[in-house]
Amino acid sequence: MVAWLIAILADSPALLDRLQAEATAAPDVPRAPGDLRRFPFAEALFREVLRLHPPVARDVRRAVIDLQLAGRTIPAGTNAVISIEHLSRSAALYDDPESFVPDRWTKKTQPPTALELAQFGGGPHFCLGYHVAWLEVVQTVVILARALHVRGVRPTLEGPFPRAKHLPLRHPDPRSRIRFA
Ligand code: HEM
Repeated sequence: MVAWLIAILADSPALLDRLQAEATAAPDVPRAPGDLRRFPFAEALFREVLRLHPPVARDVRRAVIDLQLAGRTIPAGTNAVISIEHLSRSAALYDDPESFVPDRWTKKTQPPTALELAQFGGGPHFCLGYHVAWLEVVQTVVILARALHVRGVRPTLEGPFPRAKHLPLRHPDPRSRIRFA
């Protein structure tokens, strides 16, 4: 996730400027969940990178009974693969779904819905680490933005924007290179 985010910041200098403005205006980095409200843009980056690049791109459930779903029968014992990646990029759920638009999150006044949190699964097995991941990623990008600002360096993509690789988790092609200068 953080690797995708660095590639996106390298590709979109205006996003990095905005992140640095927010990160350097704060007296300190976020250390507890309550601190996160001071970093709405860093949080929007976290939600938008998860949406376009969900590390767990597919989740699986096994039907334990015959199930009627959208007019079809799914027999007991069938493994059903749920494409989180497709839910994340659904035009039924998001305007301009293929574009990286962090402001779709900063404009929201309600907490994310269950479908907007699909990247962490759903139901009784919803990710137990969601709040840890949320704090850790926002903390990491704020620390990164402040460190780049202090050193006066910026990331630049060497070559095209990374392609996705899918195993073991969805991640940028490791052959991608980013220069900090
Ligand atoms: C961006 C980071 C993360 C993503 C995208 C993520 C995603 C997921 C997904 C998709 C599931 C499966 C839910 C399901 O089967 O429906 C899951 C389960 C789980 N996650 Fe995460 N996770 C992340 C970070 C973490 C962290 C940091 C921890 C621990 C500190 C954690 C602990 C767990 C545990 C224990 C489960 C199993 C829950 C259960 O089966 O009841 N995850 N996560």
